[in-house]
Amino acid sequence: MTDPASRAAHLREELAEHAHRYYVLDDPAIGDDEYDALFAELQALEREHPELVTPDSPTQRVGGLAPVSRLEKVEHLQPMLSLANARSEGELRAWVERMRNHLSREGIADPAFAFVCEPKIDGLAISLRYEDGELARGVTRGDGAIGEDVTHNVRTIASIPARIPDAPPLVEVRGEVYLSLPDFAALNERRAEAGESTFMNPRNAAAGTIRQLDPRLAARRPLSFWAYGIGAVDGVAFARHVDALAWLRRRGFPVNGEIRVVEGEEAVVAQCLDWERRRGELDFEIDGVVVKVDDTELQRRLGSVGRDPRWAIAWKFAPTTKVTTLRRVMWNVGKYGDLHPFAELEPVPVGGVVVKLATLHNEEDLERKDLREGDDVIVLRAGDVIPQVLSPAPHVVERPDRGPIPRPPARCPSCGTPTVKPEGSVFTKCPNRKGCPGQQWQLTKHFVSRGAMDVEGLGELQVGRLLREGLIRDPADLYRLSAEEVQRLDGYGEVSARKLVEAIARTRDVPFGRVLFALGIEEVGFVTGRNLAQRFRTIDALLEAGPEEIAETPGVGAKMAEVIHEQLADDDMRDLIDRLRPYVRFEVEGPPPGEGPLAGKTFVLTGTLPDLTREEATERILMAGGRVTSSVSRKTDYVVAGEAPGGSKLGKAERLDVPVVDEAALLELLG
Ligand code: IVH
Repeated sequence: MTDPASRAAHLREELAEHAHRYYVLDDPAIGDDEYDALFAELQALEREHPELVTPDSPTQRVGGLAPVSRLEKVEHLQPMLSLANARSEGELRAWVERMRNHLSREGIADPAFAFVCEPKIDGLAISLRYEDGELARGVTRGDGAIGEDVTHNVRTIASIPARIPDAPPLVEVRGEVYLSLPDFAALNERRAEAGESTFMNPRNAAAGTIRQLDPRLAARRPLSFWAYGIGAVDGVAFARHVDALAWLRRRGFPVNGEIRVVEGEEAVVAQCLDWERRRGELDFEIDGVVVKVDDTELQRRLGSVGRDPRWAIAWKFAPTTKVTTLRRVMWNVGKYGDLHPFAELEPVPVGGVVVKLATLHNEEDLERKDLREGDDVIVLRAGDVIPQVLSPAPHVVERPDRGPIPRPPARCPSCGTPTVKPEGSVFTKCPNRKGCPGQQWQLTKHFVSRGAMDVEGLGELQVGRLLREGLIRDPADLYRLSAEEVQRLDGYGEVSARKLVEAIARTRDVPFGRVLFALGIEEVGFVTGRNLAQRFRTIDALLEAGPEEIAETPGVGAKMAEVIHEQLADDDMRDLIDRLRPYVRFEVEGPPPGEGPLAGKTFVLTGTLPDLTREEATERILMAGGRVTSSVSRKTDYVVAGEAPGGSKLGKAERLDVPVVDEAALLELLG
């Protein structure tokens, strides 16, 4: 048997490696069970031999740490600077101009600037001091010169290495501690449920957590970390800022994979606008872009004014969360009759747009978030998605005069039918599928939408009009519309009416998988529609299939199969399918599995392709016998990347040596 000391050291190393793969690389090599088993073994060893416990042991991250009585003041070896802001293109150009002037006074004429554009994460700055490769101290920024020692909490952050390989005797690693948006929402929900006050935003929650005296509290709130720079360091020097970032990445620190180096003000502005456009897709909040001069010698020459370096600036976005009053909770009927609550708000500008309405997901969400009419609430507007109500504002929960949590109505707001709550459903429902105008509006809207039958020129307003005027009652009626009938509607002329009828007729070419998706069968999304089509090949084979056969479809579980089977057996659904038969494609075209030029090849798509939509590219690959999956693995044959690709997919492709190709190369493969 190996001796306990070396076994413990081995386990610690192994666990650190797996944690790094899991938290930083997003590429775990072992399952949770295996990790837990290794962890339990180390815990048992340390219990038996307490003298073997080291401060960098992963067991010390979760609850093994003792509370501190107060936060000690610690001086930074190198001051932590802050940043001046630029709020417009003009201010950004003025900054570059100031740098040019400063440098020309230093005798450097016309310097060639390369700029590094990094997301400005909305958390709090932290300095991590490593001595001989061991995490010695984690210190908050404080006033920039002196911060507070929060080492006990920093040790609970899974993505911060406790030990770094190939380290200089001393280095201060600088970065941002933050709480991801999903973790923030979950934390606020838990607190609201427990009757505790909620946090205003992820930054406050992260700041409140890192300054706790008891590390067990921090361990329960999953803080994350991005590294973005180096403070004091002995024996290593970097010619460029990106070299420092690469050095950090190689030593196990999470460094954002989408940081770019660009030249010239135009390119900087383009990067800033790109981050702003994509900020809603990130799962952490960013409040701007930090632009830094890449050349460290130029940085040194530029120096700082007061606390702000001349060589860096923060391009700031408008905030995306705001507090406003929840006036009323209202209810909408969805395409399966499900009643969805939504919030009517006191209008408030969020991220540059005035928000009046926000979604509330479902009735349980109202309870979980503990929301009442009249509450002040936190609204989040991320990217182009519909704004959401995150939680009550911090001061609300203690208010004594709050009303009850709103409940779903007893009758359908669209057709007046008494509502029901099916067992196991999170939604109260309107059971009147066929006769409810609200449901038929949703179903028809879905039927004609872009990923489904994609009828050009038919939006939700026009669908509503056709239903109200009695020209259609459901999607199948669309195919019997004449141009003369359409022309009688408000907003249509002779040409647009004819075009609409033609666009409807063109849907006969829509592939079977998308037709299945368009039907609005519960549990059948775009991907499941496609998979069902591949598995059964014709509508009749699918209609004859039992739940067990349906469950053999990739991605369909037993419970889902039951629901799909039940929906397809419904008389109204059969009637709709029969009336659609003459007009749409109810069988698969293309080679059976295992044939075609791309047979056996697996693709992953990322980013926006220049010409094909994601659905079109997917269809073409399937028609050629290939497969499309959503994440990169060893089984992936090609990653097809367009504009603004996902960094983690590209990173993974690189690590696994999967070829990354563009749209042109894909088209060539397709023949
Ligand atoms: S660099 C010398 N880079 O922004 C530059 N800061 O307003 C000093 N921050 O206190 C900071 N993301 O908390 C830098 N990629 C990034 C950042 C970043 C967020 C925060 C940091 C700092 C504040 C400055």
